[in-house]
Amino acid sequence: MAPSLSISLALSAFLAVGSCASLADYAPSFTTCPDISFVRAFSANRQELNPSETSYISERESQVIPQNWKSWLGDGSAIGYETSVFANHFPRVAVAFSGGGYRASQFGAGVISAIDARNATSVAAGTGGLLQVSSYLSGLSGGAWLTGSLYMNDFPATQNMVLGSQPGWTMDEDLILPGGLLDALEYYEAISQSIDAKAAAGLALSYHFLNGTNDANFFDTSSHGAGQLWSSIQQAAFFLNKQAPFPLVTIDTNGSFNGTTGTTVLSLNVWEVSPYELASFDPDISAGADLTFVGTSLFEGVPVNKSSCVVGFDQAGFVIGTSSNIFPGVLAAGGAEAEEIEVLQELLGAPVDELTPANAVVSKWPNPLQGIAPSTFVDSNSPELDLLDGGTNGENIPFNPLLVKAREIDVIVAMDASEDTDNSWPDGSSLLFTVERASTFLQETLRTPQHQQLPEIPASTDDFVSQGLNLRPTFFGCNSTDTPLVIWIPNAPPLTGDAPFTNSPTEQTTYEHNETQVILNQAYENTIGGFVPNTNSPDPNWGRCLQCAVVDRARSKLPPAYPVNRSEFCTACFTQYCYNPSNLTSSDELPNRQLVYAGPSSTSSFSISSLSSLVSS
Ligand SMILES: *[C@@H]1O[C@H](CO)[C@@H](O)[C@H](O)[C@H]1NC(C)=O
Ligand SMILES: *[C@@H]1O[C@H](CO)[C@@H](O)[C@H](O)[C@H]1NC(C)=O
Ligand SMILES: *[C@@H]1O[C@H](CO)[C@@H](O)[C@H](O)[C@H]1NC(C)=O
Ligand SMILES: *[C@@H]1O[C@H](CO)[C@@H](O)[C@H](O)[C@H]1NC(C)=O
Ligand SMILES: *[C@@H]1O[C@H](CO)[C@@H](O)[C@H](O)[C@H]1NC(C)=O
Ligand SMILES: *[C@@H]1O[C@H](CO)[C@@H](O)[C@H](O)[C@H]1NC(C)=O
Ligand SMILES: *[C@@H]1O[C@H](CO)[C@@H](O)[C@H](O)[C@H]1NC(C)=O
Ligand SMILES: *[C@@H]1O[C@H](CO)[C@@H](O)[C@H](O)[C@H]1NC(C)=O
Ligand SMILES: *[C@@H]1O[C@H](CO)[C@@H](O)[C@H](O)[C@H]1NC(C)=O
Repeated sequence: MAPSLSISLALSAFLAVGSCASLADYAPSFTTCPDISFVRAFSANRQELNPSETSYISERESQVIPQNWKSWLGDGSAIGYETSVFANHFPRVAVAFSGGGYRASQFGAGVISAIDARNATSVAAGTGGLLQVSSYLSGLSGGAWLTGSLYMNDFPATQNMVLGSQPGWTMDEDLILPGGLLDALEYYEAISQSIDAKAAAGLALSYHFLNGTNDANFFDTSSHGAGQLWSSIQQAAFFLNKQAPFPLVTIDTNGSFNGTTGTTVLSLNVWEVSPYELASFDPDISAGADLTFVGTSLFEGVPVNKSSCVVGFDQAGFVIGTSSNIFPGVLAAGGAEAEEIEVLQELLGAPVDELTPANAVVSKWPNPLQGIAPSTFVDSNSPELDLLDGGTNGENIPFNPLLVKAREIDVIVAMDASEDTDNSWPDGSSLLFTVERASTFLQETLRTPQHQQLPEIPASTDDFVSQGLNLRPTFFGCNSTDTPLVIWIPNAPPLTGDAPFTNSPTEQTTYEHNETQVILNQAYENTIGGFVPNTNSPDPNWGRCLQCAVVDRARSKLPPAYPVNRSEFCTACFTQYCYNPSNLTSSDELPNRQLVYAGPSSTSSFSISSLSSLVSS
């Protein structure tokens, strides 16, 4: 059966379609199938990485990262080590960016500046350099928007990426209704020209996060990111030179665990999109499909029709739109009509054939793993995959791909902009969901578990909050030998006691440039600042403490004959920043943190009623 490329469109029915049809050129197209393996199925008991990923990591770690460690740590004397002793034994590091709409994208961008060696202030603070020693970067939903913007734009420094020219996120133009109703009509008209071609799925995101859109051409009919493919990251110069961590974006599907289907953290499957494949390392799936041909109808990995392989399905806007497709649901929670939800879905990358409220947050992709793992994979018989927002199962930080044992990751730095508390701060929920999944679903179903567990964390969100852990960075698993060390960087109020702007509600879809700058700055200052108990001052040792944590696992990788003890300086850091169940901290040690959002209370120009008037106009 050939994949369905046509999308029924309420939108084109009520918007005039202009004469320029060039965007249609960006639709997926058919080609003769090459003689390759389209699908990689591997044993659930011995999972294997894509060979292209393995060689990327090994080249980055042998040719690029060693020098970056030296640049970051110097000779090591500032933290009590000799960096040269760790050569060939450096830990494998990953950074993860949570979901949370525009809030998460902007928070994540500010954090990236703080860990980027290209930012001189960050280097001086000691935090700038972490990004350059990382082997992996994962993103989900709003974090996937950030990831897409980075990887589709040659991995630029984020200050320029967000507010400069490459590409410039144009957040002052609303995501849903840019420039008010009249301008919005032009915007939708431009978009509608390519909607028939499927190129428009996710195009509202493409306008903001991909190359080619600025304030001057926002409303014209140039391609605005259409035609930019996720698989094209493979050919980008920065990627060929291994200049960036290997990117992974997560997406969920309904799965089955212990007899239940869907809706809980345990019964959803987690998928990942890399530049090479769409894959799931969940034990019941354990397979991946070549991303370049991902729209192709396959059965047991073989094209159903060898003359009609699909290319061009993996539009970047569509990939990041699929990872974030809960967003229309969040926006429409006020009770939108089906037609209105469909407009949102089209714009945000979640096209569905038949719309009902129940599938409001589903993106349908042809199922490339049809016929694979028939006894365990619930969608093995299905020609389509119903893909859900990467955070649907509550794991709002994309930990899952980073816990895959075959990836051998030693340190995970997790940026969390979840909206858990009433004031839109994270409270550890995402970590708790991941612990639950990693300790049950990913372990019980296998004789030989293929995923690492998270280290010990507090038992409840109340504990996270009362211990003040969500107000400052914390290291988890400092002494554990069988889990990665996790560095949690929660979105938190300014340590200085200033009024916060980084906790905007998920529904906010417009930000003035000066607001975005304040958000970047606040996320940045906290990430280079650490904390000093009972003060509102940054910790002058924090940057070096972060270095201590990121390099610590090198000690356990050294040959046993040459042990290196944790240095005195790093031991002091660990006393302050490690979660220690036998010496608990308190939120009282973090005085004067303001929790209430200080941004404009009603800047969101989006409302269901204004959308209704647009739809009926
Ligand atoms: C470092 O990043 C911050 C926050 O994004 C930005 O304000 C500053 O201009 C950057 N500094 C340099 C030297 O790039
Ligand atoms: C962005 O678009 C401009 C103008 O088309 C082009 O010159 C530039 O190379 C593009 N950058 C990337 C990273 O694709
Ligand atoms: C699986 O189901 C059994 C029986 O219903 C139950 O006792 C067990 O707790 C379940 N396991 C998980 C991890 O939910
Ligand atoms: C997932 O499963 C739940 C519970 O069975 C169901 O309500 C929902 O419609 C399913 N979603 C998809 C996309 O299949
Ligand atoms: C296979 O695909 C080709 C090219 O799209 C098409 O012409 C042909 O009819 C297809 N064959 C079958 C059996 O569907
Ligand atoms: C941004 O500028 C507007 C005026 O142009 C001002 O009202 C608003 O307070 C500023 N926002 C921030 C966060 O500085
Ligand atoms: C490491 O610490 C242990 C226990 O304090 C000590 O016995 C040992 O000599 C130290 N090793 C090195 C290499 O300093
Ligand atoms: C780690 O081990 C050291 C030395 O045994 C101990 O002093 C410290 O309290 C432990 N830290 C945590 C977080 O368990
Ligand atoms: C407990 O932690 C505090 C910092 O939060 C530290 O000052 C104190 O020394 C620690 N006590 C022990 C026994 O490690």
